[in-house]
Amino acid sequence: MSICRDSEALNVMVKEALHFTKYGKVADYIPALSDANPETLSLAIYEGGSTCASAGDTQEMFTLQSISKVITLALALMDIGEEGVFAKVGKEPTGDPFNSIIKLETHSPSKPLNPMINAGALAVTNMIQGSTVDEKLGRLLSFIHELTGNTSIQYNEKIAQSEYDTAYLNRSLAYFLKQHDVVDGNIELLLELYTKQCAIEVSCDDLAKMAYVIANEGRHVSSERPIIPLHIARIIKTFMVTCGMYNASGEFAIKVGVPSKSGVSGGIMAAVPYGPGIGIYGPALDQKGNSIAGMKLLETLSQRYNLSIF
Ligand code: DON
Repeated sequence: MSICRDSEALNVMVKEALHFTKYGKVADYIPALSDANPETLSLAIYEGGSTCASAGDTQEMFTLQSISKVITLALALMDIGEEGVFAKVGKEPTGDPFNSIIKLETHSPSKPLNPMINAGALAVTNMIQGSTVDEKLGRLLSFIHELTGNTSIQYNEKIAQSEYDTAYLNRSLAYFLKQHDVVDGNIELLLELYTKQCAIEVSCDDLAKMAYVIANEGRHVSSERPIIPLHIARIIKTFMVTCGMYNASGEFAIKVGVPSKSGVSGGIMAAVPYGPGIGIYGPALDQKGNSIAGMKLLETLSQRYNLSIF
């Protein structure tokens, strides 16, 4: 059954999940993110053709934050291959918060356990090819333009600067990784690229379209042209299942069972293999940094349309 044809039910599900926003809190450790309205929830679903949006302002823009980690991972795998990427970053979940430093020291070698935690993402961003920050960011943006079909996507300068100015923990992680030869080069330039990458601004529609490509063997939303090689689309979907919702990934797999990636802006990108792409925005977060109402909405969607892959 086409979910897009069920717009009345989608409206009801969004309305019901909206109640959960009051149990969450907008992220404020990146000062500019605290401007978001916590009482917002929107959803876009893409099944090919056109998006069907059920509720909320689906044109509202928000930043990718950690959702960008999936995209940079795909680009790094395409740039330098599996062997190069996984020489510097592991494939295992941590069970720790996304910005934790602890396992870098307790594990030997000091290689981040996976590309979805901040330490692992910094290592992956360091692999993007190009000779300047602008060139690397330009390549990443072009890739996102191709995935979404939306060439107007850019990064939000205010949010990037706000994160760059306050990224004390990420700076510590990056310098630690440099000490252990996981990253090389100028760390301040790496942080500039990473914070700009996290501040790339999208709508739910854009997220749903990116998710659709990842869900459907890496093929372009309308032309079916391959954008991400099949084996790379598989790798990133697998990380979305095992690490995409951080230390809530296990429970999320049981309750929802759809490869998904969250960000502290409140976005969630969910890719149902050989099915729809789903984009959600709800900036009120739970304690683990996932959109509280967004998770609830995905749970309801998964049950109603039998979306779990398990
Ligand atoms: O590096 C950070 O802390 C943010 N730019 C991204 C973290 C994030 O989105 C974690 N998500 N749940």
